[in-house]
Amino acid sequence: MAVITGGTRGIGLAAARGLGNAGVTIYLIGRDADRAAAAARDLRAQGIDAHADVCDVSDAGGMDALAARIPSPDIVVASAGVMAERMSKTLRTTPEEWQRVLGANLDGVFHTLCCFTPGMVQRRSGRVIVVSACLGRSSGPGLEGGLVPYRVSKAGVNAIVRAFAAETGMGSRGVSVDAMCPGHCRTDMGGPEAPRSAEEGADTIVWLATREPATPTGLLWEDRAPVPW
Ligand SMILES: NC(=O)c1ccc[n+]([C@@H]2O[C@H](COP(=O)([O-])OP(=O)(O)OC[C@H]3O[C@@H](n4cnc5c(N)ncnc54)[C@H](OP(=O)(O)O)[C@@H]3O)[C@@H](O)[C@H]2O)c1
Repeated sequence: MAVITGGTRGIGLAAARGLGNAGVTIYLIGRDADRAAAAARDLRAQGIDAHADVCDVSDAGGMDALAARIPSPDIVVASAGVMAERMSKTLRTTPEEWQRVLGANLDGVFHTLCCFTPGMVQRRSGRVIVVSACLGRSSGPGLEGGLVPYRVSKAGVNAIVRAFAAETGMGSRGVSVDAMCPGHCRTDMGGPEAPRSAEEGADTIVWLATREPATPTGLLWEDRAPVPW
């Protein structure tokens, strides 16, 4: 079974469809109850065993309650995320905007790991895929050019993935932990002019969740290949 935060739209929903078509039971998590229910209904209409639940990933207590009411997954995809306001440079952003973006994108990943991976670690079997972004990479132009809460949130996501992969033995104890960049995709976040479809963006997620063996791990992936952090 796979828990997919942000599975109700965009890249997360495309990953849900890909994993569902591979026979995986899906739990979609989003904030909007009607959208989540409709997304699960659409997947079920395509023959996928899909369920939906509602939670704001930035809410630690809400995530604990969510984890208590759904089964422990074998696959976790952390795709929930928000974009920063366009002019949010370091000296132009606000504490509220900083908190909104870091809360969803970084606290949300931390809560997702804390709530949904202990069962995997105990069973010594599971896959964790965290959706990052090239804007969070320390190599190349990733951290330059505004949108600072978003870029810093994704740099933080990369850091927690590296830390958690090391803590779980870099795959040697049955749990793989990876980050991936989907590229610029046509979603509500990416906009209609983006060069890639949500399905193209989700391809590496589905591959990481189903490849055999699940190593090497503890890496940042793009188009099924490791890229520098
Ligand atoms: N699109 C791109 O070009 C692109 C490029 C690089 C990286 N990414 C990353 O890919 C991931 C998915 O992006 P996308 O383009 O698919 O975005 P999207 O179409 O805007 O969808 C965002 C998804 O995240 C959920 N979400 C947002 N905030 C949440 C919260 N606080 N708690 C729970 N769910 C929340 C939304 O649920 P609701 O509908 O209920 O709000 C929705 O399901 C993000 O992490 C993003 O940073 C995207």
